[in-house]
Amino acid sequence: MTDRRQFLGATAAASGFFAFGPGSLVPRTATRLDPDRLPDVGSAPKPLRLLILGGTGLTGPHQVRYALARGHTVTVFNRGRRNERLPKGVEELKGDRAARQVDALKGRDWDVVVDNPTSLPFWVKDAASILKGHAGQYVFISTISVYDAAGQQSITEESPLLEYRDGDPLAVTQEQFSKDVETLYGRMKTASEREASKWFGNQTTIIRPGLIVGPGDGSFRFGYWPYRIDKGGEILAPGDGTDSIQIIDTRDLAEWTVRMAENGTFGTFNACGPRASMTMAEQLYGIRGTISGDRDIRFTWVPADFLASHQVTPWGEMPTWLPRSEPEHVISKTSNVRAIAAGLTFRSLAISAVDSLTWLQALAETTRAQVIKNAGLSEEKEKTVLAAWHQRATR
Ligand SMILES: NC(=O)c1ccc[n+]([C@@H]2O[C@H](COP(=O)([O-])OP(=O)(O)OC[C@H]3O[C@@H](n4cnc5c(N)ncnc54)[C@H](OP(=O)(O)O)[C@@H]3O)[C@@H](O)[C@H]2O)c1
Repeated sequence: MTDRRQFLGATAAASGFFAFGPGSLVPRTATRLDPDRLPDVGSAPKPLRLLILGGTGLTGPHQVRYALARGHTVTVFNRGRRNERLPKGVEELKGDRAARQVDALKGRDWDVVVDNPTSLPFWVKDAASILKGHAGQYVFISTISVYDAAGQQSITEESPLLEYRDGDPLAVTQEQFSKDVETLYGRMKTASEREASKWFGNQTTIIRPGLIVGPGDGSFRFGYWPYRIDKGGEILAPGDGTDSIQIIDTRDLAEWTVRMAENGTFGTFNACGPRASMTMAEQLYGIRGTISGDRDIRFTWVPADFLASHQVTPWGEMPTWLPRSEPEHVISKTSNVRAIAAGLTFRSLAISAVDSLTWLQALAETTRAQVIKNAGLSEEKEKTVLAAWHQRATR
């Protein structure tokens, strides 16, 4: 499913969240992200020395702040391209894994390594070969895109994985990957998971998130809905509302990742929310319920085949949604039972929605305009498709 792959393959770019906007019934949780204002979560039983590869992307900053609040010592490793300030006390090491510059990791010891941004197995090899014997746990952030979903009835951690069959995955270069992200994203994550396990054996933790949402997600693959619903009027909604969807708030993912390090939990885990299943209608009406005021907000549910005949793409133009006729729809029903047993918790949909909207509203105008273009239907196309749907229905 090209569009889903494209979107799951893309990385989020924007970061930072600021003042809270009007128009919401939900109490603010994401006010201006002062890097030094840590969440009030209490100390962990034992402080850890944590190395976070990445640490300034979408989930990294939440890992960093949560880890500090729990009393851990944090080192991050990245190229230093993001301009947000790191919280006080965080050590930053610089290097470029794509260019195989990882020497800054040499000669140091950590309790746990969290590997956030890896897309190619050689990234793991380069880091893990240095860190082997110098860290007690390697937490690898993978993706549910590793699953070979077509033809499956359900997805658990044991479901079949996409495999790279064109040679040694360690030989796949950055250039090859960039040219064919859609095909290679899941396959290279599978191979990267194996590379992590090769070096760290049973001290490896593999976390496979579904769609990561919340403040800071510039891909707009969930944020479109709070944004669109907040605008009001007649809203094109996909299918009949009963298709299931899954999302995970970046903060739930980040905090749980740190707790997995604290608990020394090893193995493979899907990280998908919410706790129980959620349909598209539950998602959209749930978000609608967070919007205050008496403005007109109406959903018009348009069947999947009509949307397809009007070139409205699932996932891309109708974010979070895959029709049940799509063979990969099963990925929206990925089991999270194992992760919940290992302590994964979930913020409410309302919090994710309101904080996503608040973050968007606080962006500089040009950045906001760019983010809005990243996913969802354009205003014009929505109008055109709705008009065609009404015309057809009245014939
Ligand atoms: N977004 C989703 O919906 C989704 C869904 C499932 C799984 N995932 C996975 O979840 C992870 C998400 O991580 P994320 O979004 O927080 O981060 P990310 O965007 O994947 O990575 C960003 C971090 O990695 C650093 N980085 C990027 N390229 C680097 C390089 N060549 N060398 C060294 N550091 C580099 C960045 O800092 P600099 O730019 O300064 O180097 C930044 O700290 C990814 O592995 C993704 O595949 C995402």
